[in-house]
Amino acid sequence: MKIDVLTLFPDMFAPLDHSIVGRARTIGQLEVNYINFRDYSTNKHQKVDDYPYGGGAGMLLTPQPIFDAYDAIEKTRPRVIITTPTGRPFTQRVAEEWAKEDHLIFLCGHYEGFDQRIHDELATDEVSIGDFVLTGGELAAMVMIDATVRLLPDVLGAQASHEDDSFSTGLLEYPHYTRPADFRGLKVPDVLLSGNHAKIETWRREQSLLRTHRRRPDLLEQAGLTETDKKFLESLRD
Ligand code: ADE
Repeated sequence: MKIDVLTLFPDMFAPLDHSIVGRARTIGQLEVNYINFRDYSTNKHQKVDDYPYGGGAGMLLTPQPIFDAYDAIEKTRPRVIITTPTGRPFTQRVAEEWAKEDHLIFLCGHYEGFDQRIHDELATDEVSIGDFVLTGGELAAMVMIDATVRLLPDVLGAQASHEDDSFSTGLLEYPHYTRPADFRGLKVPDVLLSGNHAKIETWRREQSLLRTHRRRPDLLEQAGLTETDKKFLESLRD
């Protein structure tokens, strides 16, 4: 996968040099380029923003530097993603869709945002990471890149997998335990030490249902529950 990021702050992306995204780059599954669109400004002071027509607070990113930076990217049919609090929510489903693509381009906004013509002409996706406002799109782009890239083949390595992740199954993930079985009197649930795989599966499913019921009941409607799941949830309500 190739990812091009149009940003005024390329240095903010240092976290993507590390850990799993860093590994994706090392093993050749990912190429990331940062393009400072200020370099494309034809203004003699390299200005990239201006006052909004109609008045109002704040400055807007002007079309010229961003359109020119976009035109300079070699591409066939990329997804062009604007990170913005006015976008649709970013979810695991979105990450799964993007992980199938060859080329993503992220446009990171600042100030009051972009001139609307940038949205209308360049964006294929406008996406938000939550109902709050960040100072710029960079942190949101990093979150989206991280969640997408870990789904690429071989990136998590043989030890890990994403099939049981929270949200992949439509439910929150069940709790995990490792050694020791007794730490300061805090015991690992017996079932996990039983070696009975059917019982362990049932316990994990029930823990997922319990956690989702308590913390994110909104997810249960879309979760594709079995009759056994529904009975278990009924027993909780009782
Ligand atoms: N830019 C500023 N706030 C944002 C948010 N919540 N999601 C995505 N991009 C943003």
